[in-house]
Amino acid sequence: VGEWTRVEALGGALENRSVLIRGRAQAIRPVGKKMAFLVIRENGFTVQCLVQAQADTVSPQMVKFAAALSRESIVDVEGVVSIPSAPIKGATQQVEIQVRKLYCVSRAVPTLPINLEDAARSEVEIETALQAGEQLVRVNQDTRLNFRVLDVRTPANQGIFRIQSQVGNAFRQFLLSEGFCEIHTPKLIAGSSEGGAAVFRLDYKGQPACLAQSPQLHKQMSICGDFGRVFEIGPVFRAEDSYTHRHLCEFTGLDVEMEIKKHYFEVMDIVDRLFVAMFDSLNQNCKKDLEAVGSQYPFEPLKYLRTTLRLTYEEGIQMLKDVGVEIEPYGDLNTEAERKLGQLVSEKYGTEFYILHRYPLAVRPFYTMPCYDNPAYSNSFDVFIRGEEIISGAQRVHVPEFLEQRAAACGIDVKTISTYIDSFRYGAPPHGGFGVGLERVVMLFCGLNNIRKTSLFPRDPLRIAP
Ligand code: 4AD
Repeated sequence: VGEWTRVEALGGALENRSVLIRGRAQAIRPVGKKMAFLVIRENGFTVQCLVQAQADTVSPQMVKFAAALSRESIVDVEGVVSIPSAPIKGATQQVEIQVRKLYCVSRAVPTLPINLEDAARSEVEIETALQAGEQLVRVNQDTRLNFRVLDVRTPANQGIFRIQSQVGNAFRQFLLSEGFCEIHTPKLIAGSSEGGAAVFRLDYKGQPACLAQSPQLHKQMSICGDFGRVFEIGPVFRAEDSYTHRHLCEFTGLDVEMEIKKHYFEVMDIVDRLFVAMFDSLNQNCKKDLEAVGSQYPFEPLKYLRTTLRLTYEEGIQMLKDVGVEIEPYGDLNTEAERKLGQLVSEKYGTEFYILHRYPLAVRPFYTMPCYDNPAYSNSFDVFIRGEEIISGAQRVHVPEFLEQRAAACGIDVKTISTYIDSFRYGAPPHGGFGVGLERVVMLFCGLNNIRKTSLFPRDPLRIAP
């Protein structure tokens, strides 16, 4: 009996050795009645296997069995590794397995709702194929999401979620190395944490409650609880009504909160070092995944500086004004203005990753600290990749009376957040933090056009299944 071997490990060094592999039958090609080729895939690596009728080892029934397998079935293949005379097209491994035994571990239905070869093609490949008169069906996004367990088997999608995993890993590693403590805050809370209407309300054993719109209140309360520096990776719920390319009703929040000694710039320093380290680690550790994504969805590598550019909101709107885009001085940037500014910044400073800070207070949540020198502005910031927001952050109000006043001024029922406000009555250090949308980071780092591509099972206003 051959030894269990990963498809990835199959190479010339194993010539004439007997191996046992498990994978999916990605392609099945019968050649007459005595021979069939199988391409077996495991974790994105593929190997060609030859099932050929032979007097003493392989029966014609076995060839028939192989030829009748359905695509994407899971099979165990036992056979001998050989080196073919010509290069193998359509497989990542340049050896062939002469099959001796074949078992079907799990059978897929005969007709799949998505053709995975078509689902893996780039737009250019689709156009070329169509022009050549090939029969192919463009797999639209809803179909992909309806059959997500199939859709995510394509190389680009495998790449996307491995990159996503690395973003979370880089975030955690960096913060742990900087003395942050990982926390887990409740997702069932009594009142809304960000204000506004975008909150899922529910009945909590007879009491009104919400799904947390962010860990905002509890991460701040952890600072009151003496943890000094905390972070969290967890689900965030927003009852968004907008059906856009960048909003989900549930996403993964990467949140940070920390004491600050003097200035909210200390929080931006963490953003700077954290993200430069994260981008470096993606470029170093995810080369294969980035290539897989880029070959289906071509994109240019992200341009970023070793020290992240910081502009004030006033500088930003001046840059826009200089090219004829008028922005309310105490208003907010709309999506279009953010994009435009991203483009101007990229042209002028050669970076597609930058921080915009000192936003007008009126457009920030109630807990945001106003600027000491001009309370029309705030100690807050947003961070952009390719002209789209991935982070918002700020210094927070840590004086309970003022916090109460700010919440009321922003139309929040102070009773629903009284335990939060009370937390500041027992001594609360100056602090600040930020929240990052994981799916947005991956979408924008890879230059993708829709956040649904970077959420494994996306939840949007029209979708709660699968
Ligand atoms: O800008 P937001 O709403 O800020 C907060 O939640 C604050 N509590 C953060 C803080 O610490 N001050 O959300 C933070 C990030 C956004 O920049 C964006 O990347 C992402 O979360 N985000 C969404 N991602 C997907 N779908 C949505 N509906 C999102 N809303 C925000």
